[in-house]
Formats: sequence, C-alpha cells, structure tokens
Amino acid sequence: MQHLISISDLSSDELIEIIELAEKLKAERYKGVVTDYLKNKSLAMIFELPSTRTRVSFEVAMTDLGGHALYLNWNDLQLGRGEPIKDTARVLSRYVHAVTMRVREHSTIEEFAKYSEVPVINALSNLEHPCQIIADLLTIKEYKGSLSDVKVAWIGDGNNVCNSLILAAAMVGMKLVISTPRGYEPDEKIVEKAKKISKNVKIVFEANPKAAVRDADVIYTDVWASMGQESEREERVRIFTPYQVNEELVNYARDDVIVMHCLPAHRGEEITDAVIEGANSVIFDQAENRLHAQKAILLKLIGDEYD
Ligand code: CP
Ligand code: NVA
Repeated sequence: MQHLISISDLSSDELIEIIELAEKLKAERYKGVVTDYLKNKSLAMIFELPSTRTRVSFEVAMTDLGGHALYLNWNDLQLGRGEPIKDTARVLSRYVHAVTMRVREHSTIEEFAKYSEVPVINALSNLEHPCQIIADLLTIKEYKGSLSDVKVAWIGDGNNVCNSLILAAAMVGMKLVISTPRGYEPDEKIVEKAKKISKNVKIVFEANPKAAVRDADVIYTDVWASMGQESEREERVRIFTPYQVNEELVNYARDDVIVMHCLPAHRGEEITDAVIEGANSVIFDQAENRLHAQKAILLKLIGDEYD
C-alpha cells in the first residue's frame, strides 16, 4: 500500500509513469472511451479547508473511472466534535479504498496515514500540494515537450506549492530558479530533501525577479497569503509587491514562456488580469490537468492492475 503525502513518496520512475498514464487517460476522455477501471471503488474526500479544483476534479475523476467519491467536510464529521484522527482513519479504512485529505497542518495527514489501512492522498497541507504539481508537470510536458530541459522560475512566496515543485524538480531533473522576498523562502528541510533525492539538483535562489525569469521556459506564481495566513495578508501585499507577475516581468522572459498559477488567483496582487488572460497564460489548461493527473494517481494507488 502506498500513500501520497509528499510528492517524494513516489520514485522518479513512478512520477513519470503517473504523468504518462495521465496523458493516456486524457486522450481516452477526449475520445469518449469508457474508463471504469475503478468500478465499485470508493474514495473519501475529507476537507478541513475550502476547495474548488481539487474537490471537483477528484469527484469527477472517480465518476469517470466508474467509482464513487464522498465529499466529507471536516466539521460535518465527528472529527469536528473531537473524535480522534486515529479512530477516524481506522473506521474509514473499513469502508473506502482510499482517502484524500486537505488539512491545515501537515502533521494531521501524517497522523491519519499512520493509522489508515488504505492509501491516503494529500489534497493540500501547509507543507505540500503534490497533486497540484503532478498536474503541473503534465502541463509543462505538453507545452515544452520535456521536463528535464526546462527552466522554471518560481516568483513569490516559498509556500506549499513551491515545496512540492522543488522536490519534483529534483525527481525529474528540471531547473528551478526561486525568487522570494527575504524571510519567505521555501522550507529548508524540503531543499535538503531535494538535494538528497538528486545530487545534481538544479535549484538557484535569485532575489531579483527580473533576473529570475531571464531564459525561463515557465513562470509560476501563487497567492502571497495561503489559506491559514489571512491575517498576514496586508503585510504580505506590502512585502511581495515587487514580485508581482505582470506584463513588464513577463517581457523579461523568453517570448514562448508559459505562465502558470495553481489558482485561485488574486488578480492585481501576485498576478495581473492582463497576464492571466494573456497569450502566455496556460492557467486554465493547468487547472484542467488536475482531473487527468488525479485519475492517474488514483489508478496507480488503487487500480487493480497496479496492486
Ligand atoms: N489549486 C487548487 O488546489 O485549487 P482549489 O483550492 O480550488 O482546490
Ligand atoms: N498556496 C495556496 C494554494 C491554494 C491551492 C494555499 O495554500 O492556500
């Protein structure tokens, strides 16, 4: 049994295999092929925080695969009234084939996984967002034809999405330039872990965003205040303003640069409306790929042919 709590729970080969499977499932969906590979399987989806993309794409993924998904709001479960995580994990394991969870604290999903008898998938924690990055790698591969020859510039906050991207970069050999204000760098332990995954890891820190995007194939940004950091928003807007992805910054990159954002976006803060709607933006293809990537993740973790 395999969990997906951190993207590095997968080997590099498994990550590539999931991306290739996602490409196949995407083609099958476009052709209208029946893909009931998870017939009679159920997925519990526990959300402690809001979600549009992750929630809907996981639910539709299970429908497309012939299975069933249950949306479970944290506060509607007995968890909200204090039932221990370890009891909930063992009970749900008796009913469903996998559990996906969006949690405030990464330790919550680790605790759940410790007691779960079925695979647990991280649907976002304060530390990582592995499902997002798997969809993003699929998007980069579609647009750039490769992952190992690509240079990605991360502009803004060194957050959960950035952490999973760092690990993924080490796993697939992608070049990554990270441009954050001082004090908002990604988790040091994640950077150390990336160096352990690959001695040749190509991660560079560049405080100047204009220098960071030079020669970049991909510009990636995310909100300045993640869920749970709402009280810091005003201060962060002040500190992060030089890191806005706007048309001027995009002009410092290659003409064929693609601009990515995991969404939801705050237009006028980390990214402008003109860039989201502009010719370099692949943001809505990126959002679509959440569906195809998650189908591949589910098949890999609970599909019979992968047991
Ligand atoms: N990108 C992402 O995870 O979006 P949601 O918060 O809407 O799920
Ligand atoms: N970094 C953002 C991602 C949202 C999908 C957050 O954690 O709120």
